[in-house]
Amino acid sequence: MVWNSPMNDAHSPDDLITSFSAQFGREPMAVAHAHGRANLIGEHTDYNDGLVLPCVISNRTEVALAMRNDDLVCGISNQFSAGQKAVHDGLDGHWLDFVIGALHQLLPVGGTFQGLDIAVKSNIPAGAGVSSSAALEIALLRALVKAQQLPCPTDPQLAAMAQRIEHDFIGTQCGIMDQMVVAAATHGDCMMLDCRSLDYKLMSLPAGHAVAVVHSGSVRKLSDSVYNQRLAECAAAARTLGVDSLRDATKEMLGKFAEDTAMRRAKHVISENARVQAAVDCLVRNDPSGLGGLMDESHESLCDDYEVSSPELDRLVGSLRGAGALGARLTGAGFGGCVVALCEMASANTVVSRAVEMNPDSYLIDLIGN
Ligand code: GLA
Repeated sequence: MVWNSPMNDAHSPDDLITSFSAQFGREPMAVAHAHGRANLIGEHTDYNDGLVLPCVISNRTEVALAMRNDDLVCGISNQFSAGQKAVHDGLDGHWLDFVIGALHQLLPVGGTFQGLDIAVKSNIPAGAGVSSSAALEIALLRALVKAQQLPCPTDPQLAAMAQRIEHDFIGTQCGIMDQMVVAAATHGDCMMLDCRSLDYKLMSLPAGHAVAVVHSGSVRKLSDSVYNQRLAECAAAARTLGVDSLRDATKEMLGKFAEDTAMRRAKHVISENARVQAAVDCLVRNDPSGLGGLMDESHESLCDDYEVSSPELDRLVGSLRGAGALGARLTGAGFGGCVVALCEMASANTVVSRAVEMNPDSYLIDLIGN
Protein backbone atom coordinates (compact mmCIF):
# COMPACT_ATOMS: atom_id res chain seq x y z
CA MET A 1 0.00 0.00 0.00
CA VAL A 2 1.29 3.48 -0.74
CA TRP A 3 0.35 6.95 0.32
CA ASN A 4 -1.12 8.73 -2.65
CA SER A 5 -0.20 12.32 -1.93
CA PRO A 6 3.03 14.17 -1.13
CA MET A 7 4.27 14.05 2.46
CA ASN A 8 4.67 17.64 3.43
CA ASP A 9 2.04 19.51 1.49
CA ALA A 10 -0.38 21.89 3.17
CA HIS A 11 -2.86 20.11 5.40
CA SER A 12 -6.29 19.74 4.01
CA PRO A 13 -8.94 17.25 5.12
CA ASP A 14 -10.02 16.91 1.47
CA ASP A 15 -6.60 15.57 0.59
CA LEU A 16 -6.77 13.07 3.43
CA ILE A 17 -10.22 11.94 2.34
CA THR A 18 -9.05 11.58 -1.27
CA SER A 19 -6.13 9.43 -0.13
CA PHE A 20 -8.39 7.33 2.08
CA SER A 21 -10.87 6.75 -0.74
CA ALA A 22 -8.17 5.95 -3.28
CA GLN A 23 -6.70 3.39 -0.91
CA PHE A 24 -9.81 1.74 0.48
CA GLY A 25 -12.38 2.36 -2.27
CA ARG A 26 -14.96 4.03 0.01
CA GLU A 27 -15.54 7.22 2.00
CA PRO A 28 -14.29 7.51 5.59
CA MET A 29 -16.93 7.44 8.35
CA ALA A 30 -15.03 9.96 10.51
CA VAL A 31 -12.19 12.46 10.25
CA ALA A 32 -10.42 14.10 13.20
CA HIS A 33 -7.17 15.88 13.97
CA ALA A 34 -4.98 16.92 16.91
CA HIS A 35 -1.94 19.18 17.23
CA GLY A 36 1.51 18.47 18.64
CA ARG A 37 2.86 20.36 21.65
CA ALA A 38 5.93 22.21 22.85
CA ASN A 39 6.55 22.70 26.55
CA LEU A 40 7.53 26.22 27.58
CA ILE A 41 8.68 25.17 31.05
CA GLY A 42 7.96 22.44 33.62
CA GLU A 43 9.92 19.43 32.37
CA HIS A 44 9.80 15.99 33.98
CA THR A 45 7.43 17.36 36.60
CA ASP A 46 4.15 15.86 35.31
CA TYR A 47 4.77 12.31 36.55
CA ASN A 48 5.73 13.85 39.91
CA ASP A 49 2.23 15.41 40.29
CA GLY A 50 3.84 18.76 39.45
CA LEU A 51 3.23 21.89 37.37
CA VAL A 52 3.75 22.37 33.62
CA LEU A 53 3.29 25.16 31.08
CA PRO A 54 2.98 23.64 27.58
CA CYS A 55 1.39 25.00 24.38
CA VAL A 56 0.21 23.38 21.15
CA ILE A 57 2.13 23.82 17.89
CA SER A 58 0.55 24.32 14.49
CA ASN A 59 1.86 20.96 13.21
CA ARG A 60 -0.86 18.37 13.40
CA THR A 61 -1.95 14.80 12.77
CA GLU A 62 -5.10 13.99 10.81
CA VAL A 63 -6.93 10.71 10.85
CA ALA A 64 -9.66 9.37 8.52
CA LEU A 65 -11.21 6.01 9.26
CA ALA A 66 -14.12 3.68 8.61
CA MET A 67 -15.10 0.59 10.59
CA ARG A 68 -14.98 -2.85 8.89
CA ASN A 69 -17.17 -5.86 9.37
CA ASP A 70 -14.22 -8.14 10.17
CA ASP A 71 -11.38 -7.90 12.70
CA LEU A 72 -8.69 -6.48 10.39
CA VAL A 73 -7.03 -3.12 10.99
CA CYS A 74 -5.59 -1.80 7.69
CA GLY A 75 -3.64 1.44 7.78
CA ILE A 76 -1.63 3.84 5.64
CA SER A 77 0.45 6.76 6.86
CA ASN A 78 2.56 9.43 5.18
CA GLN A 79 5.28 8.95 7.83
CA PHE A 80 5.38 5.24 8.55
CA SER A 81 4.98 1.98 6.66
CA ALA A 82 1.51 0.75 5.77
CA GLY A 83 0.31 -2.30 7.64
CA GLN A 84 -2.43 -4.75 8.37
CA LYS A 85 -3.11 -6.77 11.50
CA ALA A 86 -6.01 -8.38 13.34
CA VAL A 87 -7.36 -6.58 16.40
CA HIS A 88 -6.40 -9.57 18.58
CA ASP A 89 -2.81 -9.80 17.26
CA GLY A 90 -0.11 -9.03 19.80
CA LEU A 91 1.78 -5.75 19.91
CA ASP A 92 4.75 -5.59 17.52
CA GLY A 93 5.94 -1.97 17.64
CA HIS A 94 4.07 -1.00 14.44
CA TRP A 95 2.05 2.26 14.63
CA LEU A 96 -1.16 0.20 14.33
CA ASP A 97 -0.54 -0.71 18.00
CA PHE A 98 -1.85 2.82 18.77
CA VAL A 99 -5.08 2.04 16.89
CA ILE A 100 -5.62 -1.21 18.77
CA GLY A 101 -4.81 0.60 22.03
CA ALA A 102 -7.45 3.24 21.22
CA LEU A 103 -10.08 0.55 20.45
CA HIS A 104 -9.38 -0.97 23.88
CA GLN A 105 -9.79 2.37 25.67
CA LEU A 106 -13.25 2.90 24.19
CA LEU A 107 -14.64 -0.51 25.23
CA PRO A 108 -15.77 0.70 28.71
CA VAL A 109 -17.78 3.54 27.13
CA GLY A 110 -19.59 1.27 24.64
CA GLY A 111 -17.00 0.95 21.85
CA THR A 112 -16.79 -2.23 19.80
CA PHE A 113 -13.65 -4.21 19.18
CA GLN A 114 -13.88 -4.49 15.40
CA GLY A 115 -11.53 -3.89 12.49
CA LEU A 116 -11.19 -0.65 10.54
CA ASP A 117 -9.51 1.05 7.59
CA ILE A 118 -7.47 4.09 8.51
CA ALA A 119 -5.37 6.77 6.80
CA VAL A 120 -3.09 8.99 8.91
CA LYS A 121 -1.38 12.13 7.74
CA SER A 122 0.95 14.15 9.93
CA ASN A 123 3.59 16.87 9.77
CA ILE A 124 4.64 16.44 13.41
CA PRO A 125 8.15 14.98 13.40
CA ALA A 126 8.36 11.74 15.40
CA GLY A 127 10.92 11.38 18.17
CA ALA A 128 11.37 15.15 18.40
CA GLY A 129 9.84 15.87 21.81
CA VAL A 130 6.75 17.52 20.32
CA SER A 131 4.19 14.84 21.16
CA SER A 132 3.56 13.14 17.86
CA SER A 133 2.28 10.16 19.89
CA ALA A 134 -0.20 12.16 21.97
CA ALA A 135 -1.52 13.85 18.81
CA LEU A 136 -2.04 10.47 17.12
CA GLU A 137 -3.79 9.10 20.23
CA ILE A 138 -6.15 12.06 20.63
CA ALA A 139 -6.97 12.21 16.90
CA LEU A 140 -7.62 8.45 16.85
CA LEU A 141 -9.89 8.56 19.90
CA ARG A 142 -11.83 11.53 18.48
CA ALA A 143 -12.33 9.77 15.13
CA LEU A 144 -13.33 6.47 16.75
CA VAL A 145 -15.84 8.23 19.02
CA LYS A 146 -17.45 9.72 15.89
CA ALA A 147 -17.33 6.52 13.82
CA GLN A 148 -18.75 4.37 16.62
CA GLN A 149 -21.24 7.09 17.63
CA LEU A 150 -20.14 7.07 21.25
CA PRO A 151 -20.92 9.79 23.81
CA CYS A 152 -18.35 12.59 23.51
CA PRO A 153 -15.73 12.32 26.31
CA THR A 154 -14.54 15.47 28.12
CA ASP A 155 -11.00 16.67 27.34
CA PRO A 156 -9.58 15.25 30.62
CA GLN A 157 -11.31 11.89 29.91
CA LEU A 158 -9.82 11.83 26.40
CA ALA A 159 -6.40 12.69 27.84
CA ALA A 160 -6.63 9.89 30.42
CA MET A 161 -7.56 7.33 27.73
CA ALA A 162 -4.67 8.51 25.55
CA GLN A 163 -2.25 8.23 28.48
CA ARG A 164 -3.42 4.65 29.11
CA ILE A 165 -2.62 3.80 25.47
CA GLU A 166 1.00 4.83 26.22
CA HIS A 167 1.12 2.93 29.51
CA ASP A 168 -0.58 -0.28 28.40
CA PHE A 169 0.25 -0.57 24.70
CA ILE A 170 3.37 1.47 23.94
CA GLY A 171 5.34 0.93 27.14
CA THR A 172 6.11 4.53 28.10
CA GLN A 173 5.00 5.35 31.63
CA CYS A 174 4.50 9.01 30.66
CA GLY A 175 2.77 11.71 32.70
CA ILE A 176 -0.43 13.48 31.62
CA MET A 177 1.00 16.74 30.25
CA ASP A 178 1.11 15.91 26.54
CA GLN A 179 -2.32 14.36 26.32
CA MET A 180 -3.98 17.15 28.33
CA VAL A 181 -2.55 20.02 26.33
CA VAL A 182 -3.15 18.26 23.01
CA ALA A 183 -6.78 17.56 24.00
CA ALA A 184 -7.65 20.93 25.51
CA ALA A 185 -5.42 23.83 24.37
CA THR A 186 -5.68 26.16 21.40
CA HIS A 187 -2.79 27.44 19.25
CA GLY A 188 -1.25 30.68 20.53
CA ASP A 189 -2.00 30.10 24.21
CA CYS A 190 -0.14 28.15 26.82
CA MET A 191 -1.69 25.94 29.45
CA MET A 192 -0.81 26.21 33.13
CA LEU A 193 -1.62 22.66 34.24
CA ASP A 194 -1.51 21.20 37.73
CA CYS A 195 -0.83 17.53 37.01
CA ARG A 196 -2.13 16.46 40.42
CA SER A 197 -5.58 18.07 40.32
CA LEU A 198 -5.73 18.42 36.50
CA ASP A 199 -6.91 22.01 37.06
CA TYR A 200 -5.74 24.18 34.21
CA LYS A 201 -5.84 27.73 32.94
CA LEU A 202 -5.11 28.93 29.40
CA MET A 203 -2.80 31.96 29.35
CA SER A 204 -1.53 34.27 26.62
CA LEU A 205 2.12 34.35 25.65
CA PRO A 206 3.88 37.70 26.23
CA ALA A 207 2.61 40.27 23.73
CA GLY A 208 5.02 40.96 20.87
CA HIS A 209 6.96 37.76 21.56
CA ALA A 210 7.12 34.34 19.96
CA VAL A 211 8.19 30.90 21.04
CA ALA A 212 10.37 29.32 18.36
CA VAL A 213 10.32 25.52 18.29
CA VAL A 214 13.55 24.35 16.66
CA HIS A 215 14.51 20.75 15.90
CA SER A 216 18.12 19.93 16.78
CA GLY A 217 18.22 17.33 14.00
CA SER A 218 18.89 14.53 16.45
CA VAL A 219 16.07 12.12 17.21
CA ARG A 220 15.26 10.59 20.58
CA LYS A 221 13.33 7.48 21.42
CA LEU A 222 11.08 8.11 24.43
CA SER A 223 10.42 4.49 25.28
CA ASP A 224 14.18 4.13 25.65
CA SER A 225 14.70 3.01 29.17
CA VAL A 226 16.13 6.33 30.42
CA TYR A 227 12.66 7.94 30.68
CA ASN A 228 11.25 5.10 32.76
CA GLN A 229 14.49 5.06 34.75
CA ARG A 230 14.07 8.75 35.72
CA LEU A 231 10.50 8.01 36.74
CA ALA A 232 11.69 5.19 39.00
CA GLU A 233 14.43 7.40 40.45
CA CYS A 234 11.84 10.07 41.33
CA ALA A 235 9.55 7.50 42.98
CA ALA A 236 12.50 6.20 45.00
CA ALA A 237 13.51 9.76 45.98
CA ALA A 238 9.95 10.46 47.17
CA ARG A 239 10.07 7.30 49.30
CA THR A 240 13.38 8.39 50.82
CA LEU A 241 11.84 11.73 51.77
CA GLY A 242 8.66 10.10 53.07
CA VAL A 243 6.37 12.05 50.71
CA ASP A 244 3.70 10.76 48.31
CA SER A 245 5.41 12.37 45.32
CA LEU A 246 8.18 14.91 44.73
CA ARG A 247 5.44 17.55 44.36
CA ASP A 248 5.31 17.51 48.17
CA ALA A 249 9.08 17.79 48.65
CA THR A 250 10.82 21.05 49.57
CA LYS A 251 14.40 22.17 49.06
CA GLU A 252 14.93 22.04 52.83
CA MET A 253 14.51 18.25 52.60
CA LEU A 254 17.40 17.81 50.14
CA GLY A 255 19.88 17.31 53.00
CA LYS A 256 18.20 13.99 53.81
CA PHE A 257 19.72 12.26 50.77
CA ALA A 258 22.79 10.13 51.39
CA GLU A 259 23.30 9.77 47.67
CA ASP A 260 24.12 12.59 45.21
CA THR A 261 22.22 11.36 42.13
CA ALA A 262 18.93 10.95 44.03
CA MET A 263 19.43 14.41 45.55
CA ARG A 264 19.98 16.03 42.14
CA ARG A 265 16.91 14.35 40.59
CA ALA A 266 14.75 15.67 43.44
CA LYS A 267 16.41 19.09 43.28
CA HIS A 268 15.47 19.40 39.62
CA VAL A 269 11.82 18.56 40.24
CA ILE A 270 11.50 20.86 43.27
CA SER A 271 13.21 23.78 41.53
CA GLU A 272 11.34 23.20 38.24
CA ASN A 273 7.94 23.37 39.96
CA ALA A 274 9.03 26.68 41.52
CA ARG A 275 10.15 27.93 38.10
CA VAL A 276 6.75 27.14 36.58
CA GLN A 277 5.08 29.20 39.28
CA ALA A 278 7.54 32.03 38.66
CA ALA A 279 6.96 31.73 34.89
CA VAL A 280 3.21 32.11 35.40
CA ASP A 281 3.90 35.29 37.42
CA CYS A 282 6.04 36.55 34.50
CA LEU A 283 3.13 35.91 32.09
CA VAL A 284 0.71 37.72 34.40
CA ARG A 285 2.93 40.80 34.73
CA ASN A 286 4.11 40.59 31.09
CA ASP A 287 7.79 40.09 31.89
CA PRO A 288 9.36 38.28 28.90
CA SER A 289 12.94 38.77 30.16
CA GLY A 290 12.04 37.13 33.47
CA LEU A 291 10.46 34.23 31.59
CA GLY A 292 13.53 33.87 29.36
CA GLY A 293 15.81 33.71 32.42
CA LEU A 294 13.68 30.95 33.94
CA MET A 295 13.84 28.96 30.68
CA ASP A 296 17.65 29.20 30.78
CA GLU A 297 17.72 28.01 34.40
CA SER A 298 15.40 25.13 33.51
CA HIS A 299 17.79 23.97 30.79
CA GLU A 300 20.79 24.06 33.15
CA SER A 301 18.85 22.03 35.70
CA LEU A 302 17.80 19.45 33.07
CA CYS A 303 21.40 19.25 31.91
CA ASP A 304 23.28 19.12 35.25
CA ASP A 305 20.81 17.69 37.78
CA TYR A 306 18.38 15.64 35.69
CA GLU A 307 20.91 14.65 32.99
CA VAL A 308 18.53 14.42 30.03
CA SER A 309 20.19 16.87 27.63
CA SER A 310 22.56 16.05 24.78
CA PRO A 311 25.49 17.85 23.09
CA GLU A 312 23.24 18.76 20.11
CA LEU A 313 20.58 20.28 22.37
CA ASP A 314 23.15 22.19 24.44
CA ARG A 315 24.80 23.58 21.31
CA LEU A 316 21.50 24.70 19.79
CA VAL A 317 20.34 26.29 23.05
CA GLY A 318 23.67 28.17 23.25
CA SER A 319 23.39 29.35 19.62
CA LEU A 320 19.81 30.60 20.10
CA ARG A 321 20.81 32.55 23.20
CA GLY A 322 23.87 33.93 21.41
CA ALA A 323 21.72 34.98 18.44
CA GLY A 324 19.44 37.05 20.68
CA ALA A 325 16.78 34.75 22.22
CA LEU A 326 15.61 35.87 25.65
CA GLY A 327 15.88 32.29 26.86
CA ALA A 328 16.09 28.77 25.45
CA ARG A 329 15.79 25.23 26.72
CA LEU A 330 15.20 21.68 25.60
CA THR A 331 11.54 20.73 25.37
CA GLY A 332 9.95 17.34 25.99
CA ALA A 333 11.73 14.36 27.43
CA GLY A 334 15.20 15.38 26.18
CA PHE A 335 17.95 13.06 24.86
CA GLY A 336 17.58 14.83 21.47
CA GLY A 337 14.65 16.39 19.63
CA CYS A 338 13.59 20.03 19.95
CA VAL A 339 14.37 23.17 21.88
CA VAL A 340 12.10 26.15 22.58
CA ALA A 341 13.39 29.73 22.50
CA LEU A 342 11.58 32.89 23.56
CA CYS A 343 12.24 35.67 21.03
CA GLU A 344 10.98 39.15 20.28
CA MET A 345 8.45 38.64 17.48
CA ALA A 346 10.15 41.23 15.23
CA SER A 347 13.52 39.46 15.31
CA ALA A 348 12.43 35.84 15.80
CA ASN A 349 13.13 34.77 12.21
CA THR A 350 16.59 36.37 12.24
CA VAL A 351 17.46 34.78 15.59
CA VAL A 352 16.40 31.33 14.37
CA SER A 353 18.19 31.71 10.99
CA ARG A 354 21.46 32.61 12.74
CA ALA A 355 21.19 29.66 15.12
CA VAL A 356 20.30 27.27 12.28
CA GLU A 357 23.34 28.49 10.32
CA MET A 358 25.54 27.51 13.27
CA ASN A 359 23.77 24.12 13.62
CA PRO A 360 23.29 22.83 10.07
CA ASP A 361 21.17 19.82 11.08
CA SER A 362 18.65 22.00 12.91
CA TYR A 363 15.47 23.53 11.47
CA LEU A 364 12.49 25.61 12.54
CA ILE A 365 9.31 23.65 13.27
CA ASP A 366 6.94 26.39 14.41
CA LEU A 367 6.77 29.96 15.66
CA ILE A 368 4.05 30.35 18.27
CA GLY A 369 2.91 33.84 19.15
CA ASN A 370 0.26 36.48 18.84
C1 GLA B 1 7.41 13.27 27.59
C2 GLA B 1 6.26 12.66 28.36
C3 GLA B 1 5.59 13.70 29.24
C4 GLA B 1 6.61 14.44 30.10
C5 GLA B 1 7.79 14.92 29.26
C6 GLA B 1 8.90 15.51 30.11
O1 GLA B 1 6.95 14.20 26.68
O2 GLA B 1 5.31 12.13 27.47
O3 GLA B 1 4.61 13.09 30.04
O4 GLA B 1 7.04 13.64 31.17
O5 GLA B 1 8.34 13.87 28.49
O6 GLA B 1 8.46 16.67 30.74
